[in-house]
Amino acid sequence: MRRLIGLVVMSSLAIGCGGGSGGKDAGSPPAPPAAGGGDLSAFEVEHGIGPVKEVVVLGALDQALADRGKTTFDGKCTACHKMAEKYVGPALGEVTTRRSPTFIMNMILNPQEMVERHPVGKQLLAEHMTFMANQGITVEEARAIVEYLRTQATGTVTTQ
Ligand code: HEC
Repeated sequence: MRRLIGLVVMSSLAIGCGGGSGGKDAGSPPAPPAAGGGDLSAFEVEHGIGPVKEVVVLGALDQALADRGKTTFDGKCTACHKMAEKYVGPALGEVTTRRSPTFIMNMILNPQEMVERHPVGKQLLAEHMTFMANQGITVEEARAIVEYLRTQATGTVTTQ
């Protein structure tokens, strides 16, 4: 009998707990993507959260820009990223085929908020268990890195 009472008390405590915190951040299992995007605008869902607030459209390949991007990438990104395989972070060889240029720039420029608030960022953090560091990249440098990354892709690059 005592055991039974114990159980009842335990379970009502658990219910009380969930209700008290509003049930939002109570360490719930991984939220489905839609839930994570709840407070984001349609633009943010597609293009990420960060300083780039207008859609960046890729034109013809600018090789000089790509070369500048490679220099920055080699200096500040290769500690964690490879093109063809997962390393500390995801493989980036095909990233321009799965994300928009704007999304990639916002991820580079604002990684913390991206992994905290964006459903894709949250998913990536869950997979890699490491925070991408903010490398102090400028918007121009981030744009150049996108140009370099597009030269690495074998699939169809998302141009906007
Ligand atoms: C300290 C390691 C680290 C460094 C340095 C780093 N990253 Fe990351 N990056 C990550 C991790 C880990 C993730 C996955 C998200 C997370 O867990 O924070 C990621 C995610 C990304 C993504 C998203 C990939 C996708 O599939 O959407 C892009 C793009 C990216 N990084 C580009 C860069 C670029 C460009 C640089 C250099 C300016 C850079 N990263 C520097 C670790 C790093």
